[in-house]
Amino acid sequence: MFTIQDFLKKKKNGKKITMLTAYDFPFAQIVDKAGIDVILVGDSLGMVVQGLENTLPVTMDEMIYHTKMVARAVHNAMIIGDMPFMSYQTGIRDAVKNAGRFLKEAGAAGVKLEGGAEVAEHIRAMTKSDIPVMAHIGLTPQSIHRMGGYKVQGKTDKSASKLIDEAHSVEDAGAFSLLLEAIPINLARKITRELTIPTIGIGAGPYCDGQVLVLHDVLGLFERFVPKFVKQYDNLKEKAATAIKKYKEEVEKGKFPSREHGFN
Ligand code: KIV
Repeated sequence: MFTIQDFLKKKKNGKKITMLTAYDFPFAQIVDKAGIDVILVGDSLGMVVQGLENTLPVTMDEMIYHTKMVARAVHNAMIIGDMPFMSYQTGIRDAVKNAGRFLKEAGAAGVKLEGGAEVAEHIRAMTKSDIPVMAHIGLTPQSIHRMGGYKVQGKTDKSASKLIDEAHSVEDAGAFSLLLEAIPINLARKITRELTIPTIGIGAGPYCDGQVLVLHDVLGLFERFVPKFVKQYDNLKEKAATAIKKYKEEVEKGKFPSREHGFN
């Protein structure tokens, strides 16, 4: 099993940490067998699995449901449960209680939450309760309405120095790692150099201690929008459509099932 200690060891030894999302048993099995270090059960499932416009409607119960499926499949990767909107913003007590559910009910080894200084006390309380926390700053999709869309963050000197302060405050609060989303390459490099905890980047350039992407983006299963930072390594949507069309055609032409798929 990949642990928090392995996380820190990788940063110390200059080895990259690999992380991908997964939301169900079959894909979690594939990701785990491929040797990915960390599986994030992200609230991105709202968009790539549930077909929602954004992540805001995703509930705690839905996150637990998906994390349980992932945990059944995984033997080696560290599983991180993503705290959905309003599962921690409502107070420190809610944060600890909901984060605890990921470990107690669903089989996660840690949780991720969005925010910087404003969630430092939440992180402190969760960490004190033995719940490992990955923080997440930069573009934080749960703040879509405040941010006015999915926009690169930290482009001005003022916003960059605010992000540097946020990074230090979540590290000081006890986060074991920090996810940096959609920020300039040099800012991510500076934060990565200044922190002792590992940084995981998504749209934050090559100098982070590790990288994460949404699985459905990597496999070409989500096409509503493809951010600049995504690399599609395949087009499974097209491959699945071809297979399904072939099945339909063979059934319609009486080619499937043949005698070899039947019983005597
Ligand atoms: O929900 C999610 O999948 C995320 C991404 C940053 C990977 O938070």
